[in-house]
Amino acid sequence: MGSSIGVWLVGARGGVATVVAYGAAALKRGLTDTTGLVTARGPCADLDLASPAEFVFGGHEVRKGSIAETAKGLVRERVIPAEVAEACREDVARWEENVRTGFLDGSEPALGRLDGGVAALARLPGAEVVERLRADLREFRARTGVGRLVVVHLASTEALREDGKAWETRAGLERALQAKDPRARPPASVLYAAAAIEEGCAFVNFTPSPGASVGALLQRARERGVPHCGNDGKTGETLVKTALAPMFLSRNLRVLSWEGYNLLGNRDGAVLAQPDRLAAKARTKDESVRRILGDASVHTHVSIDYVPSLADWKTAWDFVHFRGFLGVPMTLQFVWQGCDKTLAAPLVLDLVRLADLSLRRGEAGAMAHAACFFKSPIGTEEHDLHRQVAALEAYAREVATRPSGPGPGRGIAPRRSAAATPRSGAARGRGSRRRGSRTRTG
Ligand SMILES: NC(=O)c1ccc[n+]([C@@H]2O[C@H](COP(=O)([O-])OP(=O)(O)OC[C@H]3O[C@@H](n4cnc5c(N)ncnc54)[C@H](O)[C@@H]3O)[C@@H](O)[C@H]2O)c1
Repeated sequence: MGSSIGVWLVGARGGVATVVAYGAAALKRGLTDTTGLVTARGPCADLDLASPAEFVFGGHEVRKGSIAETAKGLVRERVIPAEVAEACREDVARWEENVRTGFLDGSEPALGRLDGGVAALARLPGAEVVERLRADLREFRARTGVGRLVVVHLASTEALREDGKAWETRAGLERALQAKDPRARPPASVLYAAAAIEEGCAFVNFTPSPGASVGALLQRARERGVPHCGNDGKTGETLVKTALAPMFLSRNLRVLSWEGYNLLGNRDGAVLAQPDRLAAKARTKDESVRRILGDASVHTHVSIDYVPSLADWKTAWDFVHFRGFLGVPMTLQFVWQGCDKTLAAPLVLDLVRLADLSLRRGEAGAMAHAACFFKSPIGTEEHDLHRQVAALEAYAREVATRPSGPGPGRGIAPRRSAAATPRSGAARGRGSRRRGSRTRTG
């Protein structure tokens, strides 16, 4: 495969990033198998994807500490097996040397002790922050000799901002980047995305924060020939919801209410306990069921409560109230108890492999074929898990037959992907209640 692949994790000492780093090292050392990796099965397994053994990690972080310290906690919580942590110690210690001080806008009490350099960076206008972040990416490339670079946003969820319109145009984003007033500066995720795109790196946003999904950056990514995908990894409750909601449509059953209650105990849960962070997460979680059912009258609700003792074991209880023939009401309930980081980490590795492939193939713009990984996918409005997976498989099959050159469903010249084809059968009969699938050119 040639030279190694740089993987730059924003939020490098966070829980998901830590399991990604140890997971890649464990795969390299043959200490684990590929269970949980989507790219290890089906037509994706036939693609010429980089191996996690080729990944060299670095990243930005705002907290003090180390990846190994985070791992200690995850070993105690039985998220990382002790023998894996021990065997991969040296790999991770090497990658720790590639972690640099990141940019944090505003204060974040749930993060604890911050790195000493954070305050100085926070005083700079956005444009200067982007320059600093870009310099870190260049220095990493030069020092480690990695070829292609994929930046993955894994930092804490940002507060929901209602002034996003300002970053829709290039001129608007430029103005916000020059602003002296920190309140007018775009959020950190947008600055990280801008830095990645300008440096020609692929960008993956695993969080609900805006990242590269603002208008000006969607356009800039296409101009720079950079692939990107997001937003917000679909790993638990929403994964199940988007697999089940199409069932109601296909049986022509009328969903009346879909209520979701989530309990989460890790640092992500502590951050999400703040109302402005919760609003950002709840929006991406709530969106998919409404989009699939296409019925504005469905009552939906998503709550996320912080329950420290649960640690990484997220529990979700969903209650679905629906009506069948002759108006008879019925209910479906499910309880999901997943280990959040164990579910997320292999998907991050998948996304790095797919983003690297797109980068290599010159595919610019939104990776609509990666929609099945996200709660709020960029480049398509398809939320049905089955149709999203079909789109990924169609992409993989087409790329396997045309190994070089831009692939299908690309942002630069979007074609109708499997995810965007008309529905059939009973679902089509429900057309008036379901929003049509549209492909956004991201
Ligand atoms: N299953 C999952 O775990 C899952 C699913 C979907 C989305 N996500 C999202 O992934 C992200 C990471 O989740 P986690 O459980 O690892 O959280 P975490 O709190 O363990 O890690 C986040 C890390 O980001 C760092 N950070 C915060 N702001 C930063 C900034 N501006 N720059 C650089 N670093 C910053 C924090 O210090 C922390 O180390 C969250 O946004 C979460 O909502 C996770």
